[in-house]
Amino acid sequence: MNAPTFTKDVAPILQKNCQSCHRPGEAAPFSMLPYEETRPWTGAMKLAVKQKLMPPWFADPQVGHFANDRSLSQKEIDTIVAWVTAGAPKGDPKDLLPEKKAVANSKASIAAH
Ligand code: HEC
Repeated sequence: MNAPTFTKDVAPILQKNCQSCHRPGEAAPFSMLPYEETRPWTGAMKLAVKQKLMPPWFADPQVGHFANDRSLSQKEIDTIVAWVTAGAPKGDPKDLLPEKKAVANSKASIAAH
C-alpha cells in the first residue's frame, strides 16, 4: 500500500477536524494551510493525534456546536500517523479538494459565535 499523502488523504481530515482553528487569524499557534506551513509541525501533529490531545475535547465557544463532531476516528488517526511516519509526503496537487468548502464551513462557525 502506498503511503498516505497530504493532498489526497490528510488534507481532507485536517479540513474537517483541525483547520477551523489551525488557520491564519485563529487561536491555534500554527496554520495547516497550506502544506508548506503544515510541514514543520508534522512531528507534533503525530504526537497530538496519537495521544488525543488534538483536536481539543473542550467545547470551544468559537466553534460551538461543531465541538462534538471533531474528534478523529481511529482510521483518521492511523492515516495521520502513517503519513508522518512516511516522511509527510505532499502528494499530487491535483488531489487536493477545493478549499472553498472548508472556508465556507468555518465562516459559518465564526458567524455563529
Ligand atoms: C478548537 C480549536 C482547535 C482545533 C479544532 C484543533 N486545534 Fe490544535 N491547537 C489549538 C490551540 C489553541 C493550540 C495551542 C494551545 C495548546 O497547545 O493547547 C493548538 C496546538 C496544536 C499543536 C501544537 C502542540 C504543541 O506541541 O505545542 C498541534 C500539533 C496541534 N494543535 C494539532 C492539531 C491537529 C492535528 C488537529 C486536528 C486533528 C487540531 N490541532 C485541531 C486549537 C485547535
